[in-house]
Amino acid sequence: MVEETRDSDAPRVLRVALLGCGTVGAQVARTMLTQREDLAAKSGCGLELVGVAVHDVTKPRPGVPGELLTDDPAALVENGGADIIIELIGGIDPPRRLILSAIERGASVVTANKALLAKYGEEIYAAAEREGVDIYYEAAVAGAIPIVRPLRESLVGDQILAVMGIVNGTTNYILDKMTTEHQDFAAALATAQKLGFAEADPTADVEGFDAASKAAILASLAYHSTVRVDDVYREGITGVTSGDIRAAESMDCVVRLLAVARLDAAGRIEVRVHPAMVPRGHPLAVVSGANNAIFVEAANAGGLMFMGPGAGGSPTASAVTGDLVTVARNRLRGVENPAHPVYQGLEVAPMSETRARYYLRFQVADQSGVLAAVAGLLAQHRVSIHSVRQLAARAEDRPDTAALSMVTHVAREADVMACIAELEKTGYVHGRVRFMRAEGV
Ligand code: NDP
Ligand code: HSE
Repeated sequence: MVEETRDSDAPRVLRVALLGCGTVGAQVARTMLTQREDLAAKSGCGLELVGVAVHDVTKPRPGVPGELLTDDPAALVENGGADIIIELIGGIDPPRRLILSAIERGASVVTANKALLAKYGEEIYAAAEREGVDIYYEAAVAGAIPIVRPLRESLVGDQILAVMGIVNGTTNYILDKMTTEHQDFAAALATAQKLGFAEADPTADVEGFDAASKAAILASLAYHSTVRVDDVYREGITGVTSGDIRAAESMDCVVRLLAVARLDAAGRIEVRVHPAMVPRGHPLAVVSGANNAIFVEAANAGGLMFMGPGAGGSPTASAVTGDLVTVARNRLRGVENPAHPVYQGLEVAPMSETRARYYLRFQVADQSGVLAAVAGLLAQHRVSIHSVRQLAARAEDRPDTAALSMVTHVAREADVMACIAELEKTGYVHGRVRFMRAEGV
């Protein structure tokens, strides 16, 4: 911890450097500059914004004085004398180098950078622990929603059984628009980008990388273990068709991109991100637009739902500013939040061994014995059928076919995948088998 040598009667001021002034950073800068007295009263000290690092200093930035800007974040960290660094650049480098350099210099760090923490969290938390400074990252998961601190502090005395949530606003917005307004994927994505919650490169959102980073952070916190983004099974939403959305509707479900972390029967962590069918009556099904929601099931607390805006400049800045005040309070008292313990060191289960319910949909020859053959094939692979529906062929289907849709009981991923592969090889299944995992059923 940096020794603070100051006259005890002098008003205390902590120096804050902001790295990044984009969607989130600009809002943080404006909040710091316009709510200076309020933040000082809450922190117990003044918070002086000493510099703002950006890529392009010539860009107009309303409300942010030009003299604070620099395009040299490393110099700001090394020479700015900041007590607290707020990193809002995003991505791995330069943020990793900048954060480690700030920590070495005794600065506390606030960041919203889930991509970095899900990959190099271990290194960064260890550096902060070694130097006795804080690293706070509430905004890294689900924007404005308090979920990091509840898992890290409020629920630390409980046993977390499962964490399941919608942690990406862009994909939720797209799936919601595809469901409620029958918009196509591209139009809904373009609006999400315009509204500022899609990442600059939408691949991170629509392919599930962003949600996978958040799932890794949530699983690490919930299970006191190191879970990295590469441990997370990931499927995005680019393969979700309007046929899937309609099929979900016919089952009284909606499609949502879910992040799921839970313990399996062998005490391993299941951690996965994929589209899933969720029944309309489930609390996660009503989460609309860019909102996020996280459902936590704890042994003693029971079921807890956290919901709210998961992206966008102002909501995310709210979480960042909350961390700033907390870090400032800690520095004034000469304390730091203890590092998150990873004492459990649990293994991550391979995806093939995870268990869920599955929805399957495929065209079959409309002949006697086909349904029995399908049921037999599933039974051979220990997949039990929960419900089955057969629909007459639609105008666009072959006239001698029927559409079968079925929901399984909880089954092992590898067994269901083996069924699908075999079904597609039979003579009575026409074309591909569409499948989607079902949660909350
Ligand atoms: P933006 O892309 O809007 O802003 C990034 C900022 O970083 C810009 O000001 C950019 O400068 C600056 N920058 C980029 N490269 C450099 C560099 N090499 N040196 C100095 N400055 C640089 O990102 P967001 O505000 O959307 O996101 C910031 C962080 O917050 C990310 O980690 C993101 O994942 C996270 N986050 C974002 C949310 C959101 O809704 N947007 C929600 C939750 C978390 P310039 O302005 O000149 O281009
Ligand atoms: N692009 C992210 C989202 C921002 O859409 O949720 C919040 O991390």
